[in-house]
Amino acid sequence: MIEPLLKEWSGETVIVHYDRPAGAWIFIAIHSTRLGQAAGGTRMKSYPDVQAALQDALRLAEGMTYKFAVPGLPWGGGKAVIAVPTDLDPQSRPTLLRRYGALVHQLGGLFSTGPDVGTSSADMDIIAETGAPYVFARTPAAGGAGSSGPFTSLGVFTGVRVACEHLFGEASLKDRRVLVQGTGSVGGPLIEHLRAAGAEVVFSEVDEGAIHRFRDGLGLEFVPAETVYTTECDIFAPCALGGVLNHETIPQLRCRAVAGGANNQLASPGDAESLRVRGILYAPDYVVNVGGAMAILGLETQGWTQERAEREVVESVGRALQEVFKLAATEGITTEAAARRIAEGHLSAET
Ligand code: PHE
Repeated sequence: MIEPLLKEWSGETVIVHYDRPAGAWIFIAIHSTRLGQAAGGTRMKSYPDVQAALQDALRLAEGMTYKFAVPGLPWGGGKAVIAVPTDLDPQSRPTLLRRYGALVHQLGGLFSTGPDVGTSSADMDIIAETGAPYVFARTPAAGGAGSSGPFTSLGVFTGVRVACEHLFGEASLKDRRVLVQGTGSVGGPLIEHLRAAGAEVVFSEVDEGAIHRFRDGLGLEFVPAETVYTTECDIFAPCALGGVLNHETIPQLRCRAVAGGANNQLASPGDAESLRVRGILYAPDYVVNVGGAMAILGLETQGWTQERAEREVVESVGRALQEVFKLAATEGITTEAAARRIAEGHLSAET
């Protein structure tokens, strides 16, 4: 079952490691080193089976290639997936992370990593014990730039504004209804930005503690998972897991645009066309969620200040998304195809 996945994949290399002590599978997918050494987050979660974990790593690594290529950043695309058993003993987590760090170190720079779904800056500290210097976004206490989430959310917020500008002729979010799916490290700070900009924020979440915090604490309207896709809003911002835009959900959507932070929002390539046909403006995920990686890499490898990092994210995401919308409109293609074209241009350019 793994053979077809690898044969059809357009990337360069996959490192497969079975961690016997924890019973975890580790996949490090290097999609492209065309623009530089590969970098990407480490995703740690349980999967229904090994194929699903590998497939996630392959697709996410490809997403990183395009994410860096659209703004022309000098990094290649990669991603690591640590597929853990559902009953992983929390006590064995740090040792697993250290063994994973040793593997990253062994690769000697072929792959550098940062946080992703299921890992935090505190985890990067542990991974860096054995994986340095190829580990980004450690905690400030450990000498890192901290969480990438706030920067990712700033870029997504910019994407929401640009989408509004395209749809309504003005970027103002005053009284625009925005539905945020997932209130984690990206969705949470995104909600702050949206509220500060005067938007009407509606949220969907499965974690009880977070539901309590945002509904009862901030007084926001809560939408249960069953009705999230049928909820009327101006902008739908998926900030949880991928695959949420598919043949079942797209016909149900009652939004004008989709702009969110989750990676791999489209379940299959054809879904971009289904959105276009429905007249829903799609801000390609990798165009608007580059902020975290961009800022952390700038802060830790280019000596950027916090202000510089924020400015780069806002300007870069804003510029790229405007270009994507414009190209899609003039060529009559999906925004996804337009973003691909821009990325491919950078990937195939002579250097
Ligand atoms: N999770 C980030 C992303 O998907 C990955 C990342 C974070 C990479 C920080 C480098 C530094 O873009």
